[in-house]
Amino acid sequence: MCGIVGYVGTQQALPILIEGLRRLEYRGYDSAGIVLFEGNSLTAEKSAGKINKLEEILRGKTFNATEGIAHTRWATHGEPTDLNAHPHFDCKNKIALVHNGIIENYRALKVVLEKQGHKIGTDTDTEILVHLIEEYYEGNLTEAVRMALTQVEGTYGIAVISSYEPGKIIAARKGSPLVIGHGQGENFVASDVSAILAHTKRAVYLNEGEIVTVTADGYVITTIDKVHRTPHVEEISWTLDMIEKGGYNHFMLKEIHEQPSTLGNAIRGRLNFEEGIPRLNGLNLQYDQLRRIKRIIITACGTSWHSALIGEYMIEELAKIPVEVEYASEFRYRSPVIEEGTILFVISQSGETADTLAALREARRRGVTVLGICNMVGSSIARETDGGVYIHAGPEIGVASTKAFTSQIMVLALITVLLGRMRHLSVQQGMDLMHSLQAIPEKVDRILQKEAEIKKIAERYYKTNNFLYLGRGINFPVALEGALKLKEISYIHAEGYPAAEMKHGPIALIDKNLPVVVIALRDSVYDKVLSNIAEIKARNGQIIAIANEGDTEIAERVDHVIYIRLFPCNFLPIIWRY
Ligand code: F6R
Repeated sequence: MCGIVGYVGTQQALPILIEGLRRLEYRGYDSAGIVLFEGNSLTAEKSAGKINKLEEILRGKTFNATEGIAHTRWATHGEPTDLNAHPHFDCKNKIALVHNGIIENYRALKVVLEKQGHKIGTDTDTEILVHLIEEYYEGNLTEAVRMALTQVEGTYGIAVISSYEPGKIIAARKGSPLVIGHGQGENFVASDVSAILAHTKRAVYLNEGEIVTVTADGYVITTIDKVHRTPHVEEISWTLDMIEKGGYNHFMLKEIHEQPSTLGNAIRGRLNFEEGIPRLNGLNLQYDQLRRIKRIIITACGTSWHSALIGEYMIEELAKIPVEVEYASEFRYRSPVIEEGTILFVISQSGETADTLAALREARRRGVTVLGICNMVGSSIARETDGGVYIHAGPEIGVASTKAFTSQIMVLALITVLLGRMRHLSVQQGMDLMHSLQAIPEKVDRILQKEAEIKKIAERYYKTNNFLYLGRGINFPVALEGALKLKEISYIHAEGYPAAEMKHGPIALIDKNLPVVVIALRDSVYDKVLSNIAEIKARNGQIIAIANEGDTEIAERVDHVIYIRLFPCNFLPIIWRY
């Protein structure tokens, strides 16, 4: 994903921008660029490849600039080349622009601009936008940006500087997040707070369709329709340590190890043992409103969709409310039937996923109450929902979601207990469930202590091309998530299946070269999972079982066992066994 950082103030802009780009590296990118306002003109450097390469190009050159914008690009339109890297310029090199998102109607705009005499040199959709700004420029950069944006279809988070109007960054957003960092005699623009956290903890999140003119002394926000907006400054609670690796080799490993504390954060202050009812005031729903819920739809993408499936199992089992889980990308484009009494939950770590946001808006247009389960405070999803619950997992920098997944499940478990208590669960059951949840962080810590043992298994199989993950019941979505993580991080093809479905096709793939991860916990379907294990072994498949501590029997049937006391997402067995 692309990243933007901009600075205007009194300090040298270059080191601030390079540091900002480094903090955005985790998002993935294939080229980087920077433009500074220096003397009377714009000076830019950009290159395909890593930020180190850009720094090499900049090494030895001296700059004296207190204003600039920078970008990390993830190519969508046009190859990742030096030329296609941002910033992009107008014909006279007077206006520079960086852009996150996609300009969908760029081809049509290009034809018109070329007829008007603009020379368009790159393959990007972005360059069109800077020429459009040039076309509208008549002495007011903010107005030219606004006019250009009225012509654009698609999504954007942009930052623009110009030698016509030094000391200003114009930024705007639609479908791609942007935040203003509020400093003292200096201000920042970024696509993500981590880019500016080293300099300020005061942030103003731009809303959809807003344009901001940022100077060293302040910022003025208007909508694309010229309505003035009063900025709302939020204090960021994150510290710099939270966005650094803290001695781990990479962020994903750090975040995996953070789970005992992030799971603790998800329940902190929320367990009301006296009444056996979790405190989730952010839902903004009174008990009678909770009792009137007839049906729940949960929508999300990727890993968050997997936690939604786990939520479905938990809520239907304990609160007896029908739940439907749908990919946000499907929900937004079809015409779902939403009956009276339905509420919709959206789950998103980032709070900015375009499909989830669009699904949320579609549901709200239909008059449905939409509640969020979100990590990023102040994100679009957090702001546009009627209420919700923050998971408080802290920044998830690793590209693959890990700690957010388990915290989402923890919050879904709290919601389950709350809904259950409004219906069938007794005070005692509510209390027991909350005690079970409170015990989870410590159990996760015990699992993490098995790192070396798990690593040995990984070393044995890392050259394999395919993997199968199997689980039944609530562990079926866990299997899906396991397979997704493996694909995403190790580039090994992996499939997640409900264990019983294996015989309806995938069994054909099983041989001695196919490792199968089987979640085989001592729950109500344990014996059935043992039958699946026998089927795999009959075809010489290699089995890595995840089983409950004390289950010595399973060790005789499989190749490797990872013993756990309880799985955090395996909530129902927790109830039976606590
Ligand atoms: C997988 C992963 C993605 C995200 C998905 C939704 O490891 O990270 O599948 O879960 O893109 O993102 P959020 O939760 O931010 O809406």
